[in-house]
Formats: sequence, structure tokens, C-alpha cells
Amino acid sequence: VKIQTPPGMRDYYPEDMRLQNWLFDAWRAASRSFGFQEYEGPIFEFLDLYRAKSGDEIVAQLFNFRDRGDREFAIRPEMTPTLARMVAARANALPRPIKWFSMPRMCRAEKPQRGRLREFFQWNVDTLGSDDALADAEVIATLIAFVRNVGLTSADVSVRINSRPLMSAIFAGFGVASDAVAAAFALVDRFEKLAAAEFDAQWNAALGASVQAATVRDLLTTASREDCTALALKAGAAGQAAADGFDAVLARLGDLGVAEFARFSPAIVRGLAYYTGVVFELHATAIPLRALCGGGRYDDLTSLFGGPKISGVGFGMGDAPVLEALKELGRLPTPMDTLDAFVIDADAACFQAALGVCGELRASGLTAEFSYKRQPIGKQLKQASDRRARYAVIVGAEIAVKDMTSGEQRTIARADVPAALLRHSSAR
Ligand code: HAM
Repeated sequence: VKIQTPPGMRDYYPEDMRLQNWLFDAWRAASRSFGFQEYEGPIFEFLDLYRAKSGDEIVAQLFNFRDRGDREFAIRPEMTPTLARMVAARANALPRPIKWFSMPRMCRAEKPQRGRLREFFQWNVDTLGSDDALADAEVIATLIAFVRNVGLTSADVSVRINSRPLMSAIFAGFGVASDAVAAAFALVDRFEKLAAAEFDAQWNAALGASVQAATVRDLLTTASREDCTALALKAGAAGQAAADGFDAVLARLGDLGVAEFARFSPAIVRGLAYYTGVVFELHATAIPLRALCGGGRYDDLTSLFGGPKISGVGFGMGDAPVLEALKELGRLPTPMDTLDAFVIDADAACFQAALGVCGELRASGLTAEFSYKRQPIGKQLKQASDRRARYAVIVGAEIAVKDMTSGEQRTIARADVPAALLRHSSAR
């Protein structure tokens, strides 16, 4: 039988894995440079973790199952509920702010499409335990540090940013009942995927005629931040607080040197149910892909999982959409597998000695290989070059080290070989 890779899943051959590791390194480096600490959670959780607050869209996309004890589990479709559960469990012991990142593998039963798979890795960066606008701005600045590190500029990507409280205030001003705001957000989240007539029909069905759907469409497509602030202020104190909170985050983005990436977008409200503050998505300017990243502030997840109320803000970035975008923009590197040393026997009689030298190099932390076949030096040198070895170490009556880039060759006493390579190895 010929069995294929399941739909929406990937095989990672070594060249794919090199690229994947390059991305993981870039994610890790950006997180660490801002002081975030790495954590992980389980690959599946009790299904109820996601039923609690993620929203219908995610719950509809779960891969779930029952164990032999008839308990319901789901493969994690996102990390935020796990993070909230973990923080809730140790809430009193954790120094604040809690700045954590993770790169979990997760699954969603989505229809596979470009940049959206059924199994993917998602970089998560979150700060919990601070209501300060600095926390919102710093997670976005971490995102931009990654963006810049992989060679993208504000011409390539932008952070489309909005505030749910601002939109709530506007909707309140329009006469949308407070218990209907969640339904309004769910529809606004789909606004850019729907034709105008479809949006209008769904709006009217979900929210009645309290607000003209056309007025909402107009707001989502053309309103500036000033327009939105003015509309929110009509809702009184809540509108004022929302506008001030949003302004504070935007000002901090300036202080952290990333304001050029931010673009106010009233149509961005995000699909997940738990967001309560600033919301944002990273989009590639010239590529019609869905979001490269999405996030926002959530004020009340930890108390759902038995902890005190601790607010948080963060984002998730999928590997698939980012790799697609980088590929299309011509910024994808081709990381190569390299070796420090390829150890060669000058003739078969020296092979055992060569194995000994290879062992010493490995023990001193260098990467080293040798040929499985006894063959002429020329063929072994060819192998060294195919393996992208930095040095060929030729073991004969004496030991010669050949720099594979310059071609320069010198004799080195056996005991000095590891130290000599360590000294010259660019990787160290
Ligand atoms: P989300 O909008 O569901 O948010 O996903 C965030 C990002 O994950 C997306 O923008 C995309 O890059 C990636 N992603 C989502 N689904 C897929 C898929 N099927 N294939 C590949 N990539 C995908 C969340 O998950 C929130 N928990 C993020 C968050 C963290 N908010 C606060 N902290």
C-alpha cells in the first residue's frame, strides 16, 4: 500500500528541517533579546479548556478524541488557554511581569490552503501581570525585532492594529446592545472575507436593524483613527478611557522605535472570544495571504482556570504563513548543513588512527565525519567538499589540516589538532 502524508501535514526532510530550525532560531533570538523566557505545555488538553473562552470558530476546528476513561481531549489548536492555565496554577509564585514565549506544534482541522495547514508551529510571545501599555507595545516590538532580523521592512509588512474597547464604544454609540457586541465582533472579523451583500445580510440577521449595515461597512473601510476616536467619545467615559488606552499603546510603539510598522485598521477585531483590549495582526503588504500573526490583550483568562485575575497581552505567529511570505518576497535563506572537519586516512593502514582523531575532535565539541569507504585521498577530499567541511584533516605518517576554503594546508602535531581547529573554526 502507498500511504501519503495526511492532508495539511508536512514531512520535514533534512533541508526542510534546516529551514525550520533557522526560523526557530530567529523566533528564539527575538524573544530572548526582549527578556522573554521559554515554556512548553502538553500536546493535548482537556477539551473544556478551549470550550471555556476560545470561541466557536476554534472549537469547530478541533481535533478531539476520548480516552478509554471516556474523558474528552483536544489536540491543542492554540497556546493561550494552556498559558493561562499554567500561569493560574502558579499565580502567586511568579514574579511579575510574566514574560514567556513558546514555539508549540499544534493542530487545527482547517481546510488546508496556502499558509494555513492542519499541523503547524506557532511562535507565542505573551506578557501577563501588567496592564501597562508598555506590555502591549513590547510584545509588538518583539514581533518587529523578528521581522527586521529576517530582512523585512515596513514596506513589506504592517501591523494592523485596533482596540476592541474603542470599537465597543463606537458600537454602543450606534445603539448596539452590550450583549450583542460579541456577535458584532465575530462578524467584523469576517468582514474582509465577505461580499458587501453577504455582510449586510449576516449583520441584519445577527444584530437586527439597530445599526445600518452600510454604516458599519463604511466605518470599517474608511474611518480614520480620529473619526473613530470622535465616535467613541460619544459613548462617554468608556469611550474616553478606550481612546486614551489605545493612544498610550501607540505612543509606546513610537518610544520603542516601531511606530512605522503600525497601521490603524478598524476592521481588525480578531476572531478569538477572549480579547478585551488592543488587537493586532501582521500582514504582508503585497501578498494576499491571511494574517502572518495575530494577537491582542486579554484581561480575564486566568480566573477562568481557577487563578486570580491576571491580564495578559501577546500574539501567535504561524510558521507556514511566514515561510510562504518570505519565499514570495525572496527572503528565504537556504541554510546549509556544514561540518567542522572531515577526517581522511592517507591510506587504509591509517584508518584506525583517523578514527581516533575523529573521536578526539568530536569530544572537543567539533562536528566531524569520515568516509565509510577506504578510497584514495582525492575521493575523500571530494566527499569533504560535498559535506561542506571547513577543514579536511588528513591522517598519515603525520597530520595535515587543509582549509577547504583557501586550500592552504599545514602539518600539525596530533595533540594540537582539536585546539587548532577550535581556534580557527568560525562557528566558535
Ligand atoms: P490566531 O489568530 O488563531 O490566534 O492565530 C495566530 C496566528 O497563527 C495566525 O495569524 C497564523 O499566523 C497562525 N495560524 C493560525 N492557524 C494556522 C494554520 N492552520 N496554519 C498555519 N498557521 C496558522 C491565536 O492562536 C492566539 N492564541 C494568539 C495569541 C497569543 N493571542 C494572544 N497570545
